[in-house]
Amino acid sequence: MKSLHFCLLFMIVSFTVSRPVEAQDQAGFISLDCGLVPKETTYVETSTNITYKSDANYTDSGLVGKINDAHKTLVQQPLWALRSFPEGERNCYNFNLTVNSTYLIRGTFLYGNYDGLNQSPSFDLHIGASKWTSVNIVGVTDTVMPEIIHVLTQKRLQVCLVKTGKTTPFISSLELRPLINNIYIAESGSMVLQNRVYFPSDSTSIVRYDEDIHDRVWNPVSDDDSSSISTDLQVQTNNLYDVPQFVMKTAAIPKDASAPWSLVWTIDNTTALSYVYMHFAEIQDLKANDLREFDITYNGGKLWFSQFRPNKLSILTMFSQVPLTSSNGEYNFTFEMTSNSTLPPLINALEIYTGLEILQLQTDKDEVSAMMNIKTTYDLSKKISWQGDPCAPQLYRWEGLDCSYPDTEASRIISLNLNASGLNGTITSDITKLTQLSELDLSNNDLSGEIPEFFTDMKLLKLINLSGNPKLNLTVPDSLQQRVNNKSLTLILGEKVKMNPTAKKESKKVPIVPIAASVAGVFALIVILAIFFIVKGKKGKSAEGPPLSVTSGTAKSETRSSNPSIMRKDRKITYPQVLKMTNNFERVLGKGGFGTVYHGNMEDAQVAVKMLSHSSAQGYKEFKAEVELLLRVHHRHLVGLVGYCDDGDNLALIYEYMANGDLRENMLGKRGGNVLTWENRMQIAVEAAQGLEYLHNGCTPPMVHRDVKTTNILLNAQCGAKLADFGLSRSFPIDGECHVSTVVAGTPGYLDPEYYRTNWLSEKSDVYSFGVVLLEIVTNQPVINQTRERPHINEWVGFMLSKGDIKSIVDPKLMGDYDTNGAWKIVELGLACVNPSSNLRPTMAHVVIELNECVAFENARRQGSEEMYTRSSTNFSHTSASEFSPGAR
Ligand SMILES: *[C@@H]1O[C@H](CO)[C@@H](O)[C@H](O)[C@H]1NC(C)=O
Ligand SMILES: *[C@@H]1O[C@H](CO)[C@@H](O)[C@H](O)[C@H]1NC(C)=O
Ligand SMILES: *[C@@H]1O[C@H](CO)[C@@H](O)[C@H](O)[C@H]1NC(C)=O
Ligand SMILES: *[C@@H]1O[C@H](CO)[C@@H](O)[C@H](O)[C@H]1NC(C)=O
Ligand SMILES: *[C@@H]1O[C@H](CO)[C@@H](O)[C@H](O)[C@H]1NC(C)=O
Ligand SMILES: *[C@@H]1O[C@H](CO)[C@@H](O)[C@H](O)[C@H]1NC(C)=O
Ligand SMILES: *[C@@H]1O[C@H](CO)[C@@H](O)[C@H](O)[C@H]1NC(C)=O
Ligand SMILES: *[C@@H]1O[C@H](CO)[C@@H](O)[C@H](O)[C@H]1NC(C)=O
Ligand SMILES: *[C@@H]1O[C@H](CO)[C@@H](O)[C@H](O)[C@H]1NC(C)=O
Repeated sequence: MKSLHFCLLFMIVSFTVSRPVEAQDQAGFISLDCGLVPKETTYVETSTNITYKSDANYTDSGLVGKINDAHKTLVQQPLWALRSFPEGERNCYNFNLTVNSTYLIRGTFLYGNYDGLNQSPSFDLHIGASKWTSVNIVGVTDTVMPEIIHVLTQKRLQVCLVKTGKTTPFISSLELRPLINNIYIAESGSMVLQNRVYFPSDSTSIVRYDEDIHDRVWNPVSDDDSSSISTDLQVQTNNLYDVPQFVMKTAAIPKDASAPWSLVWTIDNTTALSYVYMHFAEIQDLKANDLREFDITYNGGKLWFSQFRPNKLSILTMFSQVPLTSSNGEYNFTFEMTSNSTLPPLINALEIYTGLEILQLQTDKDEVSAMMNIKTTYDLSKKISWQGDPCAPQLYRWEGLDCSYPDTEASRIISLNLNASGLNGTITSDITKLTQLSELDLSNNDLSGEIPEFFTDMKLLKLINLSGNPKLNLTVPDSLQQRVNNKSLTLILGEKVKMNPTAKKESKKVPIVPIAASVAGVFALIVILAIFFIVKGKKGKSAEGPPLSVTSGTAKSETRSSNPSIMRKDRKITYPQVLKMTNNFERVLGKGGFGTVYHGNMEDAQVAVKMLSHSSAQGYKEFKAEVELLLRVHHRHLVGLVGYCDDGDNLALIYEYMANGDLRENMLGKRGGNVLTWENRMQIAVEAAQGLEYLHNGCTPPMVHRDVKTTNILLNAQCGAKLADFGLSRSFPIDGECHVSTVVAGTPGYLDPEYYRTNWLSEKSDVYSFGVVLLEIVTNQPVINQTRERPHINEWVGFMLSKGDIKSIVDPKLMGDYDTNGAWKIVELGLACVNPSSNLRPTMAHVVIELNECVAFENARRQGSEEMYTRSSTNFSHTSASEFSPGAR
C-alpha cells in the first residue's frame, strides 16, 4: 500500500524557473512589485520576462521596505522590495477591472527581515469583504504564494491586508492574470488554490510564465514510493486548460505497480468544498500488448472513474462537476490498475482548490465609486484610513460612515460624517450619488463656494451640518430652503439650526427634558399663585380678577373693539426677519391647522410663528383668509396675530406666544403631570366661550370658527385661555341668509352632525363643538374611543348619567375636588350644546352666562374652604386639597 502525500503549504524552496519556450503575450497581466521606488519604475524580470511595475498607483497607504541584502541573491527581483502596513487595521490594493471577468490573483510574501525585527508576521488577506486566506510567515526566507481564482462581481477589485495580531502585514508582489476560458468553475464563483503540482524526475523548479501562458505556478512533487517518467515528444495540450508542455511531459507512476497507489492530502477546513482537477496523458511508448487501465476511487471506495485509459500524447483533464467534501478534511484518491492492465496507473498533474464564499453584499458599486471620488477630491487618503469596501465587512467599515445592511442587496451608505477632516474647495457633487444618505456632516472644515442646490433632490437627506466652514457662502438655495421649511430637512449652518422637528426630537432628546421640566415647574407655580390670588381676592375683591359675569350679546367697548392698529403695514415682516426671530426655526412648539409652529422673539416679546406648510392640503388661500380675519379680530380670549410674513414662497403668521400650550395637553397632564383644577377648568371654559362668543356676535360680519376643539384652546403664561387657529374660519353674510354652504371642514368628533349632513354652516356648529369641549373638560375622556360602550363622548356621558350620578363621569384625576352643582350644570350645558338639532342648542352668549355661574359656584366653594387653603398653602398638593373638598363626599 503506497501513497503520495501532498503538503499543501505554499512553500517553495527556491524560486528558479524552468527554461521558457518562447515569449508570450502578457496581455491583461498586472504585475506589481510592491514597494518598488521610484514609483514610475518598471522592469522586465529576467527569469520570466514578466514586466513588473511599482504598486504605487494601486494603493495609497503603507511604507516601502527592502529585504535584508543577505537574502537578495536567493530570490528574484520582485521580492527585493516590499510594502508594509503598520497603520490601520485594513489596507487595500484597488483595481479597476471588468465585471464578470475571472482573474487569477496571487500575492507573494517574503519577509527577508526587512524590518530587522526577525519576526514571523501573520495576517489575513481579504478579497473585497471576504477573507481569502491567512498568511503565516515561518522562516525569514520562506516564500508564501497564496493564489485565488476569482470571478469579479464588480468592476472594482480590492485586495486587502488585514492585521490580525501585533505583527505588521506586508506584501512583496501582487499579480493578476486574466483567465478567459471559464475552465475553473466553482459554485461559489471563486476558488482558493490549495496546491497545483506536477511530477518531474529531477527538477525542483516551479513552472510558471511563460511556460504557462496563464502564469499559473506548478509545484514539483516527488517521493520515494513513486517514480517519474517523461517524454521528449510533444504532448497535445490544447484542451481548455492550457497545461504547459513542461508539466505534461512528465508523469508519476507507483514504484510498486501492482499495489493500490494513493494520492492523499488534508484540507484543514473540514467543511470546505473541494475542487480537484487531474491532468493525464499517456507519455510512454506503449508496446502492442501493453495496456494502462486503472480505476480511481476516493475516500474509501467511492468511484471517481473506472477503467480509465489515458490518451496517447494528448491531455485529458478530469474533474468532478460537484465539489467534494471530507468529514475529516482528508482526501484519499486511490489509483488501482484493472486486472486486464499491464501497466501501473499514471498522473501528470493535479490541481486542488477549495470554494470560497465571496460575500456579494458589498457596498453598492456606484456608491463605492462616489466614495472613491470623494476620497480623491479631498485628498483624504492621508487623513483617514479609508481602505477596501466602504461598508463591508461591517467590522472594517470606513470611519465616518454608517451603512444599511439589507439581507439580499448591496449595502448602502446612510450617513457620512466628515467633521473636521480638512476638506477644502467646494462641496462635491459626488455626494448626490449616495442616494440613500440621510445624514451628512461636513462641519468644521475649510469648504468654500456655495451650498449646492443638489441637496434638494436628495430626498432621504434629513440632516446636513455645514457649520464651522467660514469660507462657505451660507446662502441657502430657494429649493433647499423649501425643504427646510416643510420640515423634511434640517440644515445646520454656523451656530444656527434649520430644524426638522422630528430630527430634533430624535437627536436632541437630552435638552428637551429640562425644557419640559422647567415648563412644568412654571405651571405648578402658576397654579399655586392662582390659588393665592383667589384666596386674597376674596378678602380684597381685586378688580383684576376674572370677570364673574358678562352680559350677553352687545359689545363691551373694552373687549369688543377690534384694534385697527394691531395689524399695521409694519407688522408685515420679511423672511430673513422670520429666520432671525425664530433663530432659524430652532424650537418647535407644535403643529397647527396648516403648518408647524415655532418659537420666536419679536421686540423682546415671545411669539409663536406658524409657517405655512407647502405640502399642506390647505394653502395660500387659507393663509390669506386667516390674515384677513385676524386683521379685524382682536379679543383677549382670541390668540392675537402680531405680524405676518408673505415673502415669496414663505408664508408665516406670527401670533402672541401661549406659554402653557393647549388645553388638551394640559388635561392629559402632558405638560408636567399637573392636573388642571376644577377652578382652572371653569375659568378656561368661560374664557374660551367668550372668545367664541365674540366671533359670533362681536364681529361684523359674524364668523364661524369651524374648528373648535381642546387643541385649539391655548393657555398663556397666566393660564388665561384663548381660542386659536382661525385657518378654517370664513366670514359669512348675516342679512337674509343665515347659512352658507361650504366645504365641510373640522375635526372628527367635534363636527356638528347637522352641518356634516347638510353642509350648511351656522354658528350653532361651533356651539356643538364647544359642547364637546365642555364634556371633555368635565370628564377628561377622549372624544372618540371605540373601546368604550359608547364611542362618542356625547353618547357616553348620556349613557353613564342614565345609570349613575355625576361622579361616574367626572375626571377621576380631580380626586373629587370639584363642585358637584357646577359639574351638573356644565354637563347639562354641554349636552344641550351637542343637541343633534341645531335649533335646540343654546347660543354662545347663553353658554357664557351659564359658565359664569359655574365659575361663581366654584368660587363660593373655594371661599368656604378658605381657611384650609391658607393653612395648607405652603405645601399645597392635590391630595391635601381633596381631603377638604366638600363636593367629593
Ligand atoms: C500611474 O498612473 C499614472 C496616471 O494614470 C500613469 O501616468 C503612470 O504611468 C502610472 N504608473 C505606473 C507605474 O503604472
Ligand atoms: C525574454 O525575452 C527576450 C526577447 O524576447 C528573449 O530573448 C529571452 O530569451 C526571454 N527570456 C526568457 C527568460 O524568457
Ligand atoms: C475604470 O476603467 C474604465 C475603463 O477601463 C474607465 O472608463 C473608468 O473611468 C475607470 N474608473 C475608475 C474609477 O478609474
Ligand atoms: C455578469 O453576470 C451576471 C450573472 O451571469 C449577469 O446577470 C450580468 O448581466 C453580467 N454583467 C455584465 C456586465 O456582463
Ligand atoms: C470553511 O469552509 C466553509 C465552506 O466554504 C466556509 O463557510 C468557512 O468559512 C470555512 N472556514 C474557515 C475557517 O475558513
Ligand atoms: C486511502 O484509501 C485506500 C483505499 O480505501 C486505503 O487502503 C488507504 O489506507 C488510504 N490511505 C490513507 C493514507 O488513508
Ligand atoms: C478484460 O479484457 C477482456 C477482453 O478484452 C474483457 O472481456 C474483459 O471484460 C476485461 N475485464 C475487465 C475487468 O475489464
Ligand atoms: C486644498 O488644500 C491643499 C493642501 O493644503 C491645497 O494644495 C489645495 O490647493 C487646496 N485646494 C483648494 C481648492 O483650495
Ligand atoms: C453667496 O451666494 C449668493 C447666491 O449665489 C450670491 O448672491 C452672493 O453674492 C454670495 N455671497 C458671497 C459673499 O459671495
